[in-house]
Formats: sequence, structure tokens, C-alpha cells
Amino acid sequence: MMRAMRLCILSRGPQLYSTRRLVKEAENRGAEVEIVDPLETSLVLGERNGQVIHRGWPIQADAVIPRIGYSVTSEGVRVVRQFESQGVYVANSADSILQSRDKLTASQILSHQGIPVPRTALVTSWRDTERAISRVGGVPCVIKASQGTQGNSVHLAHSIRDASELVYRLLANRETVLVQEYIRESHGRDVRVIVAGGEVVAAMRRVARGREFRSNFHLGGQVEAIELMDEYAKVAIRAANLLGIEVGGVDLLEGRSGPILLEVNSSPGLEGIEKASKINVAGKIIDMISQRHRIQSTDLQEVIRRRSGHGALTVRIKDWPEFIGRRIKDVQMGESRALTLLRGKDHIWSPNEDLVLQPNDELVIYGEIASIRAHMQRRNTASEERF
Ligand SMILES: Nc1ncnc2c1ncn2[C@@H]1O[C@H](COP(=O)(O)OP(=O)(O)O)[C@@H](O)[C@H]1O
Ligand SMILES: [Mg+2]
Repeated sequence: MMRAMRLCILSRGPQLYSTRRLVKEAENRGAEVEIVDPLETSLVLGERNGQVIHRGWPIQADAVIPRIGYSVTSEGVRVVRQFESQGVYVANSADSILQSRDKLTASQILSHQGIPVPRTALVTSWRDTERAISRVGGVPCVIKASQGTQGNSVHLAHSIRDASELVYRLLANRETVLVQEYIRESHGRDVRVIVAGGEVVAAMRRVARGREFRSNFHLGGQVEAIELMDEYAKVAIRAANLLGIEVGGVDLLEGRSGPILLEVNSSPGLEGIEKASKINVAGKIIDMISQRHRIQSTDLQEVIRRRSGHGALTVRIKDWPEFIGRRIKDVQMGESRALTLLRGKDHIWSPNEDLVLQPNDELVIYGEIASIRAHMQRRNTASEERF
């Protein structure tokens, strides 16, 4: 028989609804659960994989659920990173927490991959406010801090003057400030989707109280059950996957032409969603983790860089027209290997060396960076000499 899963919940609030629910559901399933305050841990490095120490003892865990509050992001994330490097399954990786927590970073990653986000501008001086507003579609517009939560640093500005003042104040607070298109048709409401392990677990609509435009539960927003449309589910899952979030709350606005992604929360609250959907969300999260904790997800970046001097480079065939119609093995050099070929929307992993290159292909080559570059440079000079 398999021994019980040892689960560590990183949380500063053992009494919080979400923490209590996760503990209860895990214990119901026979797991051994320990709640650990990340601020009460110490880390030991330098001996093999290192350790996370709590009350004098190294934590022995098979899986970790990080429930890291915003005010302790860096303290929490370094503990998560330590577990990751020990090969312990973490429900959200350190990088995914950091990426999703910064609204600008998250929007950059997501919009680059075609997820619809509100038009957003970064401003670094209040004097740029007016220009930024015209780029995102005029007033009213939304002014927000890139790293706020629970609606704390989100404002609706009705005039350029209001907006400039808000920008000035946030910048004085040393915030990263965003000017954002106001999605009028979604005023006071949004859709929260809980995604776990790449699947939708539950969804609800949140409706703001009175004239408030922010629908956050912590600002008194009402929650209601919804039947989630397919398009919304797809965007939510894709957004979580792109940010590497395995357990998260995805916030979507209901735009005129479909879902618009606002943010992805790595420690979503469970109270509102369990109440609205009547689904055992905590139980589903624990189920997912107990199925998956024996396979640790892999940080490809880290794998690729493990050999010193080695890495991955992209050769865009349109920049190297002489390769069009040639085979991969004619391009490959020395010890280097083609990791993957991007062709249209497809990934061809470990492509066959006899595959013939097309004009829009992008070839990702793994090997010793310096020698690949030198080789390409030689080719370049050779082809220039030809003309
Ligand atoms: N661009 C926008 N258009 C319309 N409503 C918005 C917009 N941005 C935020 N909101 C409202 O404000 C709430 C809080 O904004 P959000 O960006 O999620 O910040 P927080 O991280 O503080 O929750 C959202 O749930 C939504 O109701
Ligand atoms: Mg939000």
C-alpha cells in the first residue's frame, strides 16, 4: 500500500476559511497535513538540495500548497523555490507566483500569446498620463498599481485631471502604475474561474455593491452561480497554463466580443466560490494534487542551462533565406541538436534531421551557444561574400 501523502500548506493564517477547507479535505483523504508559516521557516543551502527548517526540524513533504499573501511575497516565494529545487511538488511554482502577481508581467506574457487583455499602458511620470489615456481609448479609464490586490489600488478615473492625480499618488508610493482601458460593458462585474491542473473546477460571477465598479469579494461583492461558457473556460485554462499556474483563480471581464483577461491569482480565496457554486473546490484541488504530486513539473529553462555554456537559440529561417529548401541536418552544426521546429502554430519536437525547411519555420537549436553563434557568423560572412 502507498503511504499517505505528506502535504505542507504554506500559510500565515491557519484559521482562514481557505486554509481550513484545504486541511479538512486533505485529512478526509488520509493525507498528513502541516500548516507552515513561511515567516517561521529557515532555509539551509549548500548540502545537496538544501532544506526548509520549521521549528528546528526539516520539513518532509511530498507536496506543497503555497498560500502566500501579497505582503509576504518574497519571503514566501523563496521557500517555494527551495521546495522546488528539492524536487518537492509545489502546486504553484515560485516563478508562476511572481509572474501572475505582477499585472503588467502577466499581461505581457498573455497578450503576446493572443489572450485578449484590456489595452494597457505603463506610465512612469504623471505627465505621461494624458498620452497614455489616449492610447487606451480615452476617459473614463482605469488606473491601477501593477501589484495590488483585493481592489486596493484600482481606481476609475472620469477625467484626465483625476487620472493624472491618481497616477501621481501611486507613483509617489513607488508603485508600478498602469493606465487601462475601462471595459464599460463589464462595469461592476466579472467572472472568477478556479482552474486546477489545467481544468475548470468551478466558476462564479461577482457583482459589485452599489455604485462601486470593483467586484472584489473583499469589497462586499455579491457572488452568484453561472454556467460557464466554453469560450471563457478555454481562455481561463490557457491563461493559467501560460503563466504556469496549476491552482489559480482567473478573473475575466465580460467584454462585448467575449472574455477579456484581467488577472490570475495564485492563492484564490475559496469561500465565495464554494458558496456560489456549491462545489467542493478544496476537495477538487486536493484530488488534483494527490494525483499529480508524484510527477514534478519541469522548468525547461533550467534543464537547458544545466550544462555550462549551453543553451537554446532560435534561427528564423526568414532571416536565413539560404536555408530554405535545405534539410535540418544541413543547418545543424557539430554537437548541436534541433530541439524543436516551430511551424505555424505547431511544435515539432525533436524534428527528423531530413525535414526540409520552409520560409516561415523557426528552428530552436540546443548546444554550446558560443560555437553555434560562431558557426552562424561564418555562414553569414560566407554568404555575404557570395554577393
Ligand atoms: N479595465 C477594467 N474595466 C472594468 N472593470 C475593471 C477593470 N479593471 C478592474 N476592474 C474591476 O476592478 C476589480 C479589481 O481589479 P483587478 O485588476 O482584478 O485588481 P485586484 O488585483 O486588486 O483585484 C475587477 O474585479 C473588476 O471588477
Ligand atoms: Mg482581481
